[in-house]
Amino acid sequence: SRAISPDVANCGPVELPPGAITEPFCCPVLPSPLKIIDFNDFAKPNATLRVRKPIHMVDDEYMAKLEKGIAIMKSLPPHDPRNFIEQAKVHCAYCNGGYPQKPPFQNLKIDIHRSWLFYPFHRWYIYFFEKILGSLIGDPDFAVPYWSWDSIEGMQMPKHFANPNSSLFHDLRDPNHYPPYIVDLNFVVGAESTTQDKQIGYNLAFMYKQMVLANTKEVFMGGVYRHGDQAQPAIGSVEQAPHNTVHKWVGRADLPSQEDMGTFYTAARDPIFYPHHTNIDRLWGIWTSLDGGRQDYRDDQDWLDSEFYFYDENLNLVRVRIGDSLDTKRLGYVYEETEIPWLHAVP
Ligand code: C2O
Repeated sequence: SRAISPDVANCGPVELPPGAITEPFCCPVLPSPLKIIDFNDFAKPNATLRVRKPIHMVDDEYMAKLEKGIAIMKSLPPHDPRNFIEQAKVHCAYCNGGYPQKPPFQNLKIDIHRSWLFYPFHRWYIYFFEKILGSLIGDPDFAVPYWSWDSIEGMQMPKHFANPNSSLFHDLRDPNHYPPYIVDLNFVVGAESTTQDKQIGYNLAFMYKQMVLANTKEVFMGGVYRHGDQAQPAIGSVEQAPHNTVHKWVGRADLPSQEDMGTFYTAARDPIFYPHHTNIDRLWGIWTSLDGGRQDYRDDQDWLDSEFYFYDENLNLVRVRIGDSLDTKRLGYVYEETEIPWLHAVP
């Protein structure tokens, strides 16, 4: 098999962009002694499913649960794997070269961006984040709502994130992009953007291009990436934009890499990372269902057998495979079905 598997016991210093504003160490704590269990927490066939809804469709009481969970995570001791910054480190370690590949390719670093690992890695990452958060607030059915920037109602930063007294607030963001400013899904740092009244139409046409017109797995999901390959073979359409562009749009325009959201080593320190990624995860599912069913990489055993490691809500370090992430119902969650305004927004 040539499936990717990070050498989880050998996390090392990461590579940071020039002018990085924080410590270069992103390795999450390891259990000692090192004990790893294989993921087996599949939802029972008739279990209640967690339903991830758009933020603009949930009430304040629901958002208060998310706020509470994030506040608890921020208050946990620094080396508790459920601590908010420990969770952010997991993302940094997988993105900025913390993990080598297994021998004989230990000179190659793992990177979960710009390849076919992008969607499944982030699915698992958010899965464990959601389980941890649900367990900390005593509500195992809690689902992280999504920031549906691809719908007209969702094209602003959700207001709860703009409240300075909320645990969802984050200092390192572009102050000009708070509501009611409309997001530019094809944002370029420093470039002149279009007028606010034209932006919604541009965004819908752009979604059509990145989703509907990106009709092959290579174009949508990113390039094939196996054990022994160089990282970052090719980026997928939506990963490039709106994924990267919304990251950049949220971060501070005057920092070298638009920290925190605008660069991988700090992105997951901003609570808005998580609803941004639930939307990305939702779009993966929608893409797969277009044209009566589009073909992703599920016929490739190396993709299915690729592995990642995460802490679960019981503090176990768990090994997961991509093949076990393809059916979200087996992971216990679904997305609320909503209207998709860009589906026929032919540019
Ligand atoms: Cu791993 Cu939104 O990035």
